[in-house]
Amino acid sequence: MADIILGIESSCDDTSAAVIRDGYLLSNVIASQDVHKAYGGVVPELASRAHELNIVPVVSEALSRAGVKPEELSAIAFTRGPGLLGSLLVGTSFAKAMGLALDIPIVMVNHLQGHLLANFIREEGKAVREPSFPYLCLLVSGGNSQIVRVDDPLHFEILGQTIDDAVGEAFDKCSKMMGLGYPGGPVIDRLAKLGDENRFQFAKPRVEGLNYSFSGIKTSLLYFVRDEMAKDPQFMEKNKEDICASFQKALIDILMGKLIKAAKQTGIREITIGGGVSANSGLRDRIVKEGAKRGWNTYLPEFKFTTDNAAMIAIAGYHHYLAGERTPLDVAPVSRMSDF
Ligand code: KG4
Repeated sequence: MADIILGIESSCDDTSAAVIRDGYLLSNVIASQDVHKAYGGVVPELASRAHELNIVPVVSEALSRAGVKPEELSAIAFTRGPGLLGSLLVGTSFAKAMGLALDIPIVMVNHLQGHLLANFIREEGKAVREPSFPYLCLLVSGGNSQIVRVDDPLHFEILGQTIDDAVGEAFDKCSKMMGLGYPGGPVIDRLAKLGDENRFQFAKPRVEGLNYSFSGIKTSLLYFVRDEMAKDPQFMEKNKEDICASFQKALIDILMGKLIKAAKQTGIREITIGGGVSANSGLRDRIVKEGAKRGWNTYLPEFKFTTDNAAMIAIAGYHHYLAGERTPLDVAPVSRMSDF
């Protein structure tokens, strides 16, 4: 009998449901929440309310696109954390209720693990390149900036992480302060393509080991723009492409510096990226170029699997399910990685 898993993701501002059969993706539905745009960032209370509105239609749509009836499901995988507690509560409660109603097991998934396994989402009729274990994943999103060693689908170790802001936050906060819009990553990425990346320099962090820091460079950019605007109020408008290109290059330099160090320290040459910021075209180009120079095998997940989605939760849940893991119904969501 086929193993059919419904995946549910609700850790931040995307409500998503996906169905996989024996490891192959049948459907992946994502409802993004526009309600946060007016605030220039995710408002947790609004996010959880939007999840409540979205979850039933999103799950129904995922099942109907997959051509799967609820009673055909083998298990329900859901994101337990880390993320926004109110948002996680919606997905977790829904998974429990549906599991109970259908009398099928539920399987909790660590959101990070979903991102780490994004390269293993198989689709019928599509060739997919999967990294071999162990590999390193540069996990970069609105909430994470980590270098992770993945030993097998169920085991990973964080080798380095940000000690303050995530790199996606640096993109988003700087874009907001410069009046360029939200979310900042895609806006800066687009403008950066039109600018000179070597025109401006920003402060470089000095952090021990494989850890990152992005709050200094963020402040450096904001002070620089403020000082220049005091001299010429048109400065931003005239130079936004060069500012974005130089800022993006500085962020990529920081990310790559530690990734290269991690590859040297571990001797691992299988390199993947994941998380929303891995959609960045400058970062994707640079990983491929560095990889070619250093003899790495690089794996870039498809754009649709880089940002938050339930397909990655379903595939991670599938591996836990095959390993015999089952989650009790009294499970509670957790907001932090350390509580997992
Ligand atoms: O993984 P994700 O969807 O969820 C969170 O962890 O929040 O990542 C969202 C982040 C945001 O910070 C967004 O600005 C960033 O990913 N992002 C990008 C790009 N597309 C999305 N950052 C840089 N370049 C992009 N093209």
